[in-house]
Amino acid sequence: MTDELLCQASPTFDGDIDPADVPERYRLGPAFIPKARYLDPDFQQRELQRLFPRAWLMACRAEELPSIGSYIEYRIGDASILIVREGKNSIRAYHNACRHRGTRLATGRGRVGSIICPFHGWRWNLDGTIRLQLDPEEFVPRSDDDLGLQPVRLDQWGGFVFITMDDDAPPLLDYLDPIPSVMEPFHLENMRVRWYKATIAPCNWKTVLDAFLEGYHIPGTHPQLNRPDRTNDNPATVKEIETLRSWSPTSVYERHSMYQSLGVKQRQSSRLDKDPTRRPGARGEDPREAIAGAVEYIYDALRGLETERSVRAAQLLRESEIPEGSNAGKHHLDLYRQLAIEDGLDWADITPEEWARAGTAWHVFPNTIVLPNQGAALVYRSRPQGADPNRSLFEVMCLEQVPVARYDDKWEVEPQFFEDYRQGDIGQILTQDFENTENVTIGMHSPSFDGHRLSTEQEMTIYNQHRVADRYLWADD
Ligand code: FES
Ligand SMILES: [Fe+2]
Repeated sequence: MTDELLCQASPTFDGDIDPADVPERYRLGPAFIPKARYLDPDFQQRELQRLFPRAWLMACRAEELPSIGSYIEYRIGDASILIVREGKNSIRAYHNACRHRGTRLATGRGRVGSIICPFHGWRWNLDGTIRLQLDPEEFVPRSDDDLGLQPVRLDQWGGFVFITMDDDAPPLLDYLDPIPSVMEPFHLENMRVRWYKATIAPCNWKTVLDAFLEGYHIPGTHPQLNRPDRTNDNPATVKEIETLRSWSPTSVYERHSMYQSLGVKQRQSSRLDKDPTRRPGARGEDPREAIAGAVEYIYDALRGLETERSVRAAQLLRESEIPEGSNAGKHHLDLYRQLAIEDGLDWADITPEEWARAGTAWHVFPNTIVLPNQGAALVYRSRPQGADPNRSLFEVMCLEQVPVARYDDKWEVEPQFFEDYRQGDIGQILTQDFENTENVTIGMHSPSFDGHRLSTEQEMTIYNQHRVADRYLWADD
């Protein structure tokens, strides 16, 4: 088990670089992040040259490549990588560049029998070997390796396809530790994309990630989550915000981090208090109504984590008697389980300890977030978009577990792209988060502002991203 650190202003791990090796302008302070790390084009350029090519990057879901010959172009900075399903159980990645004169071979997503260069028509088999070089007698003879597509390392975990351009990167499962063991009970590999939306975020790629890396903003941004009636009059009064404040402690690991939303702040709570039977907003009413209303609210306002099936269970909960020794939250999970099993899902038994370890949201370094839940998960990914550090491509995938009988089905996954998030119908909660990203960016440019002053308890996930990034950005200098 990887070392875990809690609640320090400057967590460090073996292998971290000496802060003196980081230029002062970008140097982290105790729970402090200089704004230049978000606003400088040079900093982003460095991320694109040193961080993204050497990290493992979540490139797509396996179900996005439903058939042999299905491909996706994954772009990051100047790099274009072609991800291709070569066989039922084999997915490969190649640098998306013709061996003749460098032409990009495929764009977007689609399906091919072989990979064909649009310029002079050279072609390759799906395994990357050269199939056709037109008029080969006119060329200097070259080896098959030289003419073959240049491979990119690829591996899979939990139904996700990851790539790295670094041949020296550790194996994927080592890199992801402890996430695979923490998420094992949730069986992300049995989920499929239900919807997938992409938009341009009006901010740095890290600003939009930060928006989903802490629960400290819940009383300020999403007060409705902690209000029994889920009204959203912003801002809360001083008295109310004191009673609404959430507690979302963070844990940081060697590369990744997580936060755990424990509801309304009760300092005496232990770290293992996370209880899936407790829900935001579930206070002060008939407990059945409170749980049912909270499930319905999340399904409506987030369009994920809850499912049509958990909403059906919520409706059944309203009409049922709570068995002796149970409570409304537990009974909802029992009803959900029955419906899931009736529908042919392989429904795991998740222990209270496993729920607690899974927390609310995980930062998968560098640019992905996973919110695991039983039966469904949300995945966020952000990337720089062009040279402007104040713009990024942000994507949301809603995953839902599918019946065992459908594991081998082919899934049509087509991201919906919205130039402006306001057109994307992303629900109340994500809309509130996006409004912040634009305001953070404008405010950060103020000459009066020097950097983020973070909570050492609830915002260390953000610090951790920067600490780990420094290993990539400055280690060789
Ligand atoms: S550039 Fe690809 S075949 Fe000529
Ligand atoms: Fe939020």
